[in-house]
Amino acid sequence: MKNLILLLLGAASFAIPGSVSAQTDERIPIIFDTDFVMPPADDSLALMLALQSPEIEILGITTVAGNDSLERATSDVLRMLEIAGQPGIPVYRGADMPLVHEKSDFAVRSYGNWYSDEPPPPPPGGFATKQIENEAAVSFIVRTVLASPNKVTLVAIGPLTNIAQAIRAEPKFAENVKQLVIMGGAIALLPDGAGNITPNAEYNFWVDPEAAHVTLRSGIPIELSPLNVSRKSALTKYWYEKMVAVETPLTRLLKDTMGARFAAEPDKSWFMYDQIAMASLIDPSLVTTERLYVDVNIDHGISYGVSVGGRKIWPGAELAQEMNVQFDLDWTRFIEMFVARVQAPLQGERKRAAEE
Ligand code: BDR
Ligand code: CA
Repeated sequence: MKNLILLLLGAASFAIPGSVSAQTDERIPIIFDTDFVMPPADDSLALMLALQSPEIEILGITTVAGNDSLERATSDVLRMLEIAGQPGIPVYRGADMPLVHEKSDFAVRSYGNWYSDEPPPPPPGGFATKQIENEAAVSFIVRTVLASPNKVTLVAIGPLTNIAQAIRAEPKFAENVKQLVIMGGAIALLPDGAGNITPNAEYNFWVDPEAAHVTLRSGIPIELSPLNVSRKSALTKYWYEKMVAVETPLTRLLKDTMGARFAAEPDKSWFMYDQIAMASLIDPSLVTTERLYVDVNIDHGISYGVSVGGRKIWPGAELAQEMNVQFDLDWTRFIEMFVARVQAPLQGERKRAAEE
């Protein structure tokens, strides 16, 4: 009887609120590349959305130094998979430092902890028993893409170090990636295009500008989700309370890690950077895009890590590639989908039931 109920729940997973056209055999296979930190960090909320979306099949998660150290990203993501009931998803350790960018006084004074070699703090509930895979992230990324030419989508929501290393490691890699969704950059040509770490540079691109430069010029079809579109979002106490109104392991984690913040600052709101990038793959109609040529500055001066977008090629950007650049969002549809999926019964349990 229990199995029957779980089976029915499994079938219902394709009709959860906010669902687009999900069928098991239509799932989008992705590699999720992240500078992960537990909530309230946006990477973890983006992963919750992916884990809870029947349209998405996560082939593996690769970690990278960004919001915090690589060790923190890795130990937090392992634990998150246990909490979300999907410990079978493999996790691969990636780059612990950007390609070129070195620790500086500015980095230490500003946001982020990518350069840190401090041991990671225990995640909620303690360190996971789940272990990382015995293969490096770059090897996994290249192997997986080459095994299924033009089938695998990469979702990259941290510095692009792992992706750039994969591009450099294997000449046939870029041409075999189906699509790359990137949270990164800020485009001055479009509204809301200021930076968030230097006046014009966005954090992920600024942490590893050389990696962003290699990746954007690689020829991979790119969907760019820059700060312009992030700034159309506002995670307020109202939406947080809606999310945690239902009791699940994920909403319990949100309460434990975000409740105090909303209690202390009830009028403050937060941008949903990585969640928008992830959602745009699930339902592309949530965002409005424009085709632009985008390149990244790698001169070690005042514009280090700044992304520049133009409608035509300009001198110096002859190798820039044209890509979809997101600049507007259907906020209401996005947040309603996000809330519905995060508070839905754990997809891991529904999947297991359907397989039994
Ligand atoms: C990006 O930088 C990180 O802090 C966030 O996780 C997001 O990916 C926003 O600039
Ligand atoms: Ca991120």
